[in-house]
Amino acid sequence: MKVIAIYVASIDGKIARNLRDPLDWVSSDDRKFFRAETTRSGVMIMGRKTHLSIGKPLKHRLNIVMTKSPAKYSKEAIEGLLEFTDESPQKIISRLKKEDKHESVFVIGGSSIYSQFMQKRLIDEVWISVEPIFFGAGISPFDLKKPLSVPMELMHVTTLNKNTVLLKYRVDTP
Ligand SMILES: NC(=O)c1ccc[n+]([C@@H]2O[C@H](COP(=O)([O-])OP(=O)(O)OC[C@H]3O[C@@H](n4cnc5c(N)ncnc54)[C@H](OP(=O)(O)O)[C@@H]3O)[C@@H](O)[C@H]2O)c1
Repeated sequence: MKVIAIYVASIDGKIARNLRDPLDWVSSDDRKFFRAETTRSGVMIMGRKTHLSIGKPLKHRLNIVMTKSPAKYSKEAIEGLLEFTDESPQKIISRLKKEDKHESVFVIGGSSIYSQFMQKRLIDEVWISVEPIFFGAGISPFDLKKPLSVPMELMHVTTLNKNTVLLKYRVDTP
């Protein structure tokens, strides 16, 4: 099972202007691409704040929401669609691997989640859509306390429309 971190960024690498950013700068082509790929995979892992910013579980995919207080949200859980967990990143991945239901799983953010999965070297691929907009400030996809050097190999470059570039990188195995 492949673990893929996926995000859409501005040309200066920001994934949001702030925590309340409605991401209205994201193209419909990228939204379509995200929907198709995550639906094909069938499972996404996200932080509680990203779930809150989306505002609802995304249909036809298992939404795994990481929170330190899963009991607080247990009433919202929907079998097969929305679950809240305080399992570690490693535990979630080993559980999904053991279940053997998915060829890939998408880690969809936000910053704290991408950071922990990368820190633990759980990410196999990073897919980045770059939208033609500059912010100069905002939220970075990764915010690690200690810098890492993780070499990657460019697998694929394409455009989703005349302005949006999609980059797919494979993380080199150490
Ligand atoms: N452009 C993009 O592609 C993209 C994608 C995703 C998100 N975003 C943006 O990113 C921002 C959110 O990022 P963020 O870093 O602030 O928040 P986040 O990663 O979405 O969520 C953080 C929350 O996740 C839970 N969490 C984190 N690590 C955990 C762990 N090890 N165990 C259990 N729970 C854990 C905690 O929830 P509790 O507080 O409940 O314990 C924490 O407060 C938003 O602005 C969103 O729009 C952008």
